[in-house]
Amino acid sequence: MCGIFAYLNYLTPRSRQEVLELLINGLKRLEYRGYDSTGLAIDNPESNNDDGSKIMIVRRPGKVKVLEEAVTEICKGDEYKTKLTTHIGIAHTRWATHGSPSEINSHPHRSDLDNSFVVVHNGIITNYKDVKRLLEKKGYVFESDTDTEAIAKLIHHLWQQHPTYTFRELVEQAILQLEGAFAIACKSKYFPGECVASRRGTPLLVGIKSKTRLSTDHIPILYPSAKKQRAYNKKLPADIPVLQPAPFNDDTPAEDELLEVKEVEYFFASDASAIIEHTDRVIYLEDDDVAAVKDGVLSIHRLKKSLDDSHAREITTLKMEIQQIMKGNYDSFMLKEIFEQPESVVDTMRGRMFFESKTAVLGGIKEYIPEIKRCRRLILIACGTSYHSAVATRQLLEELTELPVVVELASDFMDRHTPIFRDDVCFFISQSGETADTLIALRYCKQRGALIVGVTNTVGSSICRESHCGVHINAGPEIGVASTKAYTSQFISLVMFALVMSEDRLSLQTRRLEIIEGLENLAAQIRKVLQLNSKVQELAKDLYLHKSLLIMGRGFNFATCLEGALKVKELTYMHSEGILAGELKHGPIALVDDEMPVLMIVMRDPVYTKCMNALQQVTARKSRPILLCEEGDEETKSFSSRYLEIPRTVDCLQGILTVIPLQLLSYHIAVLRGCDVDCPRNLAKSVTVE
Ligand code: F6R
Repeated sequence: MCGIFAYLNYLTPRSRQEVLELLINGLKRLEYRGYDSTGLAIDNPESNNDDGSKIMIVRRPGKVKVLEEAVTEICKGDEYKTKLTTHIGIAHTRWATHGSPSEINSHPHRSDLDNSFVVVHNGIITNYKDVKRLLEKKGYVFESDTDTEAIAKLIHHLWQQHPTYTFRELVEQAILQLEGAFAIACKSKYFPGECVASRRGTPLLVGIKSKTRLSTDHIPILYPSAKKQRAYNKKLPADIPVLQPAPFNDDTPAEDELLEVKEVEYFFASDASAIIEHTDRVIYLEDDDVAAVKDGVLSIHRLKKSLDDSHAREITTLKMEIQQIMKGNYDSFMLKEIFEQPESVVDTMRGRMFFESKTAVLGGIKEYIPEIKRCRRLILIACGTSYHSAVATRQLLEELTELPVVVELASDFMDRHTPIFRDDVCFFISQSGETADTLIALRYCKQRGALIVGVTNTVGSSICRESHCGVHINAGPEIGVASTKAYTSQFISLVMFALVMSEDRLSLQTRRLEIIEGLENLAAQIRKVLQLNSKVQELAKDLYLHKSLLIMGRGFNFATCLEGALKVKELTYMHSEGILAGELKHGPIALVDDEMPVLMIVMRDPVYTKCMNALQQVTARKSRPILLCEEGDEETKSFSSRYLEIPRTVDCLQGILTVIPLQLLSYHIAVLRGCDVDCPRNLAKSVTVE
């Protein structure tokens, strides 16, 4: 939803200008998460860094570029070139949830006019009105419409109540009062050189960069002492609802177990893509972790101890390469990601498809296959494009697993409180692994005892961690807000699952073999489809001034219609609808005339004759549809002068090839209409609110 980035250097000299550049760069990497306004906070150069040090906040409506221009202007003074041994800066790129994208609603938010405590936040505080009301009664004057401002002011209020508390204790105390989802990073003029961050329900990770290799791979988890917990209990403001603190923990590790390093830099970010250019050593924080850096030492604290808590957070090594998050020679991430598909589909199959032995293995769910085979039904739950990958593979899953397969939009699934049973197997498909609707549905199914299978593209994401088992789609980082390569990789992951499930079914072997052969040829065929790019660009010129585009098909290509229409809507702001060709005569045909742009997918598969019927119905209404048909299919081509020929593959994999021209089409229409392809209006890559 929003992107958080914070940076702290300890005994590593950096000028303010360098810190600012670093923060801006971090925000650029996270811009896909939200881009209606941005802001950052650093130590004010006029401050003397003693108790009276000040914090400077710069905020701008608009994209990171606007903030960058403002920062470049500010950095002209010599005071920005002086090296500081320790500094902390926090930054944010926003996707508005509370209040319009204005300067005053941009983050960081502050506790008071002196900027005593400043906070950046991703997520939604659901009880912020209660907290705000309380603080207003205490004399706090709110300046923004956001929920986040309540956090900054609450920390300030707690500091006034408990002047002896450390910064970390103040933040701990504050988050005890918060309900909802958040990842926050906080800075204070009273605690120079310290940063405190925490998360609940939205992602946050800490990158560690030090000259000397760290002596440990784990950071021990600390709990408040019994004495402190009693103090927390006693001194909470009476009229804020109090969450129950943890049982006392007598095994608190000694302070000297903390990670002690010199010359260190820390990076806090919503996503690894903002960290990888600095370090590959990261810790994924868990819900309710409080990470604090003081005197260069990182410590991780928890307020509550539960039985399944681990005793330490592991420092993991990121596998991501820096080139993967750069645009390279492409004008946009989206175009780069569309053209990466010949490689990304191979990455998805690597180590899983064995073409010589004609076998498929999914290491992440292997042990669960017997249990899955015994299940009552398979339920595939997701949102948006990820949902379409479920629609695309449902028919094959039914065919090869011989189980009932249900596909569900996560939001609707939860609205209905759908009955779930212990012998259900629920798949949660999500590129980001953080989509709130999907995650909530996951927890709902888990509570009811179902087996949870995650299908995600983001290692360490919430869905990935909360699943019993799963498949990493391995498509590589997807930065463009519109999902492209993740879709084809999700599609293939589910196809591989169907292959695994049918391995020992004799009657299905011929079918399995043709699918395996189809998968082997897929990368080459995708390359061929991508060669249609200039032809697609020409078609986009015919379409971009229109108001609407209807996309029709059925069978294995219906999901392509839905996905193509979603791409057109989100990128071009044109109306577009994916129509099941079988439904045409039940209403949508009323839209068809010689003006209405129509695109039809007519492949030589089991529903070819039915698709041809629909084509005839459409052309009889003077429509001149654009056709997606099979290479060399003269009969179908004779219905229109505008067509794209797609290589032939097995019917259930066609959707992978037919979706690519639609990804390209939406891209070219968007460019012709002057839209921002990587950051479409009102959208965000990771939707961490319900
Ligand atoms: C469309 C798109 C969205 C996402 C949806 C789910 O291009 O990107 O529809 O597919 O928000 O996101 P994930 O897959 O991250 O759960």
